Amino acid sequence: MKGISHHLAEKRKYLISIYIWYNLSNNKRQKLYQLSSLCLEATILEFFHQPGFLGTHANRFADITLMLMVLAAALFTIGFVLARKKQFMAHRVAQTTAAALNAIVVLWAMMLPFYKEIIQDFMGERPAYFYSVTSIHASIGLTAFVFGLFVTLRGNGLVPKKLKFKNYKPYMRVAYALYLAATLIGVLVYLVWYVFIPNPPVYV
Ligand code: HEM
Repeated sequence: MKGISHHLAEKRKYLISIYIWYNLSNNKRQKLYQLSSLCLEATILEFFHQPGFLGTHANRFADITLMLMVLAAALFTIGFVLARKKQFMAHRVAQTTAAALNAIVVLWAMMLPFYKEIIQDFMGERPAYFYSVTSIHASIGLTAFVFGLFVTLRGNGLVPKKLKFKNYKPYMRVAYALYLAATLIGVLVYLVWYVFIPNPPVYV
């Protein structure tokens, strides 16, 4: 009985909200919509800015980024083994998925922090090795990102005729080595940022 009345009360609230929504002017609707998207944005930010789960000074966002990049590197390695076993279809799917995951994370989680915290020095001065490790990482990472995407597009037959190389092996090996090097130096970047430097960014 209690369950049914609770259900009816919920339904009533829902119907009242729809009624109010339809009776609002367009201007007010737009404002309400903007307000709700701001609330959603704040909730997402708050979720990612909680302390991370790896027990360092990193927030949840940096820990998730690290996990995703390690996952992409593992997938690249599985894809490499699949190619050695001549399972080319499975190899193509694995490498395309890993390259897409890698590209999304680089664009979403690395370009902006690099601009703000290295180029603009947003957080204040840090030890020299903080800048050198991150810059070496960013250069190898950018090369891996561009070259890796080119090889992935070629593997899927999506580049113009002139760029269609036939000798896959060296191209794919170089792309794989660059991705792995970027990931390894990325792990070092994580350690420098959130473990080694004396004044790490603390997120609460
Ligand atoms: C194949 C490409 C790349 C790989 C595999 C890679 C991998 C990683 C990994 C594993 C981390 C540690 C996770 C973390 O600290 O959040 C990291 C951090 C970082 N990377 Fe990359 N990266 C790549 C490309 C780039 C590029 C192109 C840039 C800059 C232009 C860049 C800038 C950074 C920065 C600034 C951080 C620290 C981010 C933070 O913690 O706020 N990375 N990267």
